Amino acid sequence: MRGIEPAAQAVAPLSGADFEHIRRLARESFGLDLKAGKEQLVAARLGRLLRDGRFRSYRELYRGAAEDATGETLATLIDALATNHTAFVREPDHFDFLRDEVVPRLRKRGEAEVWCAACSTGEEVWTLACVLNDALPGNRFRITATDISRKALAVARRGVYSAERCAGMPPAWVSRYFKAENGDYSVNAAVRSQASFSRFNLLDRFSAPRPYPVIFCRNVMIYFDAETQHRVVLNLAANLEPGGYLFIGHAESLSRIAHGLEYVRPAVYRRPSKPEGVWNRLS
Ligand SMILES: C[S@@+](CC[C@H](N)C(=O)[O-])C[C@H]1O[C@@H](n2cnc3c(N)ncnc32)[C@H](O)[C@@H]1O
Repeated sequence: MRGIEPAAQAVAPLSGADFEHIRRLARESFGLDLKAGKEQLVAARLGRLLRDGRFRSYRELYRGAAEDATGETLATLIDALATNHTAFVREPDHFDFLRDEVVPRLRKRGEAEVWCAACSTGEEVWTLACVLNDALPGNRFRITATDISRKALAVARRGVYSAERCAGMPPAWVSRYFKAENGDYSVNAAVRSQASFSRFNLLDRFSAPRPYPVIFCRNVMIYFDAETQHRVVLNLAANLEPGGYLFIGHAESLSRIAHGLEYVRPAVYRRPSKPEGVWNRLS
């Protein structure tokens, strides 16, 4: 009939077996613990990839992700499933504690490297940069920022945010560390040069050339089961210097995990210092 578009090719609904396969793949590949009841969420997030024609069915998508030796399809699946929610100055008391309690110890050293793990679209990284530039002037820090999502990392690297997203930031930071660009705000070149971004899966074992005095790894372990949380926390703790701080999300808890870190305050832990430890020598 004239004026009627051909019907879009119907996509078979997500079956119980599809959900089981995707759930197993997500857990094994990046720790995501998809509980029963998350079928609709999975169907909605992956359905977009089916509707834009990249895959004909959920089955083709997860088989591609499991079998594609290049890792491309798996990366696409992870990008679609990961929750990237974040904000500037999220959980502000962490940044106050960093400025008031941690930075004074960092002042005595040449350069401090901070790891922002699971940095999503970058708001957390640039918030850290603003705090550190204010409290530790002289370009004496670097931020290593990582995430598993390529899509999120692309936004983080670009460093351009709408005025609406920047609304929660102190105006002084916006004028000092950003420049206005067609109604948006772009991280300025000096601040940009202080952060480097790379793709990293927290499930992978990792040994930094130099342990970090500060690691932020917030609001990601909430998506992992207890066994995966344990594995990730041990890896993070192994990359902290003695006396170094681990910040996790306030909704997260390490109480069920044996990790050897000291509790400092809500969602802040510290690797015990040795009397002759690096941290104490420098402070
Ligand atoms: C909810 S966001 C949290 C962002 C930021 N840390 C914050 O607190 O606002 C969670 C981030 O964790 C990332 N993620 C999930 N699983 C991961 C893994 N196994 N390794 C690294 N990053 C992961 C996601 O891509 C997402 O960007």
